[in-house]
Amino acid sequence: MPLICIASPKGGVGKTTLSANLADALRRQGCRVLAMDLDPQNALRLHFGVALTDRGGFLAQLAHGLTWRDAVRQTAAGVALLPHGTVAMADALATVAMLERAPELLVGALREMLADPSLIVVADLPPGPSRVLELMAPHAAMTVVVLLADAYGAALMPEIDSGRFLGLGALYGPQPDRLRLVLNQVDYGSRLSRTVAQALARHLGPRLLGALAREDAVGEALAAQRLLLDSAPASRAALDVRALGRTIADALPLPVEAAAGWWAR
Ligand SMILES: Nc1ncnc2c1ncn2[C@@H]1O[C@H](COP(=O)(O)OP(=O)(O)OP(=O)(O)O)[C@@H](O)[C@H]1O
Ligand SMILES: [Mg+2]
Repeated sequence: MPLICIASPKGGVGKTTLSANLADALRRQGCRVLAMDLDPQNALRLHFGVALTDRGGFLAQLAHGLTWRDAVRQTAAGVALLPHGTVAMADALATVAMLERAPELLVGALREMLADPSLIVVADLPPGPSRVLELMAPHAAMTVVVLLADAYGAALMPEIDSGRFLGLGALYGPQPDRLRLVLNQVDYGSRLSRTVAQALARHLGPRLLGALAREDAVGEALAAQRLLLDSAPASRAALDVRALGRTIADALPLPVEAAAGWWAR
């Protein structure tokens, strides 16, 4: 039932990494999870070991009448995956134009997903404001904005309260409680990173869901096309991902189906 959108004002901050590993953490907590890639980079699948030759996906094939159920991949992790699909520039622009004309193609599919009371949808969004974020955000129980614990994150602090930092003032103005933040790539060996993390934690209070340590294990997991909890379960970042999963489960709360394979019902 609940939709969790993962977004950010800036690119390359760890949205896809968080989407994949949070989906995995929630599944390990006993939830049925559908991880949905809405970014034409089509990178979410890499975390789940989907073959590079598998180019299919939901948004990429929207024009061809493919239903979202047809586009779902079952992953070894037990998370259901809806890849974006591989697209050339012209296809990506055509998808945006189509969503402009016929938003129901996406929103109708999303409504079907959210009608399943025990399913959690984790959506990986493109960086910055986008048409897909505009369409998805009103349906989200929670939008998690990822910021880096760096100078840019610190500079954005005054913009966070207004929602202007994501061009989202209008989207979240009426429901600011649905907007939460995660700090990524906290480097505990760096004074700047620690200081920014502490300052943001003080400023954001409960709006900050948690932080994810900067660690080679995170990139190594992706390089091996594995999930962090599988490849480096004892790493600091893995502990952080588990904690984020628990915090989100407490905040929403999430439906849990004990012993469920994700899709098997
Ligand atoms: N906590 C971390 N520690 C170390 N490396 C990280 C961490 N989080 C993300 N990375 C690395 O940072 C890079 C960018 O991550 P990712 O692709 O998840 O960002 P993104 O926000 O989805 O990017 P985009 O805006 O392009 O979609 C990747 O190489 C990833 O492995
Ligand atoms: Mg990404």
